[in-house]
Amino acid sequence: MRGLAAALLLGPAMAAQSFDDAQIDALISRMTPEEKAGQLTLVAAVYENEPSDQERKPGEPTAMQRQLAEIREGRISAVFNGIGADWARQLQRAAVEQSRLKIPVLISVDAIHGFRTIFPVPLAEAASWDVELAERVARATAVEASSAGVAWNLAPNVDLARDARWGRGVEGAGEDVLLARRFAAARVRGYQKNNRLADDDAMLATPKHFAGYGAAEGGLDYNTVELTERTLREVYLPPFKAAFDAGALAVMAGFHEIGGVPAMVNAPLLNDVLRGEWGFRGIVVSDYAADHELVEHGVAVDDRDAVKQSILAGVDMSMTSRLYQRYLPELVASGEVPMSRLDQAVRRVLRVKRELGLFDKPYGRMSAAREQRLTHTPQTRALARVAAQRAIVMLKNEHQLLPLPRAGKHVALIGPFAGGPANLNGPWTVFDDRRDAVSVEAGLRAAMPDAALLSVTRGSDIEAPIAGGIDAALAAARAADVIVLAIGESESMSGEAQSRTEIVVPPAQQALAEAVAAVGKPVVVLLRSGRALALSGAVRDADAILLTWFLGAETGHAIADVVFGDVSPSGRLPVSFPQAPGQVPYYYAHKSTGRPPPPGPLQEYTARYRELTAAPLYAFGHGLAYSTIEYGEPVLSANTLPWDGSLQARARLTNTGARAVEETVQLYVHDRVASITRPVRELKDFKKLKLAPGESRDVAFELSRADLQFIGRDLQPLAEPGEFEVWIAPNARAGVAAKFELQR
Ligand code: NOJ
Repeated sequence: MRGLAAALLLGPAMAAQSFDDAQIDALISRMTPEEKAGQLTLVAAVYENEPSDQERKPGEPTAMQRQLAEIREGRISAVFNGIGADWARQLQRAAVEQSRLKIPVLISVDAIHGFRTIFPVPLAEAASWDVELAERVARATAVEASSAGVAWNLAPNVDLARDARWGRGVEGAGEDVLLARRFAAARVRGYQKNNRLADDDAMLATPKHFAGYGAAEGGLDYNTVELTERTLREVYLPPFKAAFDAGALAVMAGFHEIGGVPAMVNAPLLNDVLRGEWGFRGIVVSDYAADHELVEHGVAVDDRDAVKQSILAGVDMSMTSRLYQRYLPELVASGEVPMSRLDQAVRRVLRVKRELGLFDKPYGRMSAAREQRLTHTPQTRALARVAAQRAIVMLKNEHQLLPLPRAGKHVALIGPFAGGPANLNGPWTVFDDRRDAVSVEAGLRAAMPDAALLSVTRGSDIEAPIAGGIDAALAAARAADVIVLAIGESESMSGEAQSRTEIVVPPAQQALAEAVAAVGKPVVVLLRSGRALALSGAVRDADAILLTWFLGAETGHAIADVVFGDVSPSGRLPVSFPQAPGQVPYYYAHKSTGRPPPPGPLQEYTARYRELTAAPLYAFGHGLAYSTIEYGEPVLSANTLPWDGSLQARARLTNTGARAVEETVQLYVHDRVASITRPVRELKDFKKLKLAPGESRDVAFELSRADLQFIGRDLQPLAEPGEFEVWIAPNARAGVAAKFELQR
């Protein structure tokens, strides 16, 4: 079967062929400059009865009618964040049945952690260290979204972030390069169905925001980025490379500037690295009106100049500003932008549409019946529960307070996140149905045979006290056997434009925690958050702390599963928790400096703040379970790693506790001497391993020269012979080092 658009365009004689490159070029040769600019234009969805429709004069078209007319005129290529197969079908009909060239429209969405069914925020999902789970979640997201017509996801966010103030760290996979690479690739595989893009349930992935956006100065969103090329190549680019190696055929250029050159006009990155070195053949889309922002950055005189600069630098498609639509025809007419560049960008877009099967089956993803059948299925919901369970990180569990007995104890659930539908899903959801999400209260109640043993008290608002709140909380605490504090950040405290000056539990809630803890009952903290927080006072000193992030639709059930011990927590920190907010940016893979603070008491004139040791409160990789795992010292297969050979590092793990648990075993390496200073530790591999009570098992990792590479003085990757240390450990601070030598 060949496509509708191609058949109409090229006549029945070619009907037996697929839509090939020659046909794409033939199509381009028939396009006007306006139609070409249209193919490079992505706009936001509008609906019937938009607010703007109320103000229109009689006889004037509605916003939706205007958008459909623009599609018919060939002035729009893609539309994002609309919903429903029927809505999408209207747009597609205008494109493939009513426009001159019948080029299908691309329906796009921001589905960062689910579409209708909401999964844990990406940072929480990364805390599972379960790459296969991330792929399944991305797949489930693609199935739901594509059934509503979506062919293009503006995700995954693969920005590595090391400053917890930055609100968008919640969208990524944390502070580590290896973890970020593996999650980037898994999410791409899931969205793109392992590159079966033409299937009706696959969607195009868009790693974003190219590149280095997460390194914003001061953790302030949209802020200037200063990065050396070495750090860019070693830390910030690898997750993108992993996403492209997994097949991603789109990428989003960021809002930010890097060392004086905005990402939107960064030809060295967009052309030399992306296209030249990496051979990327997909489309580069701008972020939201980021072309216009070049004027604010002060590198473009006006919008027209911004368009000229960004298309010449390699940005193929413009999001929402409509500036490409407006200025490209005249820029080509005046010769300022060569027609060949315009054609190249259009060709890329049309090829991606072809890869998605849109020429052959423009309505393939748009069936209301399929949407009905595939949205909110029990299977997706079950996956959301597993994903939420696996994202929970137990930071602390003194005297084995957790798990709580399911019956026989009075539980006082206290805090602004105890009940209600808000703040469960987390930032960056576009089409979630909040009424669907299970609160902590509902989850605990459903799990307790005698729900009368649960009291629920708000105690405080998120950022302000409430009158009588603490008194009510104190009364509840006194009447209970155990206090469960549901506190932390609201979902609007992380995400885009939500950077914080201080990464702390908001003071009103801290005051609530102090008051309630003083009652003297055991305290469990359920910490809701979109970033690492610096915990203090009664929160830090609670008997048990479960980091519960924003877990999505199944929040309450997953928390109850862990609190009552149906599931042993298995999550591990993808970000370090510093001791104090002023330590940020704080990450484990830092350099030694010439004055490394020794372990133990504070020592003058070393690289630490005067008030604190340099140790984290909770290290990257940390997370407890309902059992104890002992690690034997690492044993190496040899003392030398031959240049072209490999070496095995193994360690014996023993479950010394009474429960079967899953351990995340981490392999770290340190290069003792190199021509470039190297991080004190770098994660090189990890494995998840189930251990029955009393069971011992050996875990083995292979190391080769490729694992020991870094970016050398000439900015080329290299490995250098010499001594390395290696740890097999439960987190980035633990373990005993073994040594080996890389020999040429
Ligand atoms: C701006 C965000 O930076 C980007 O990630 C997102 O895809 C667009 N808005 C569209 O919603």
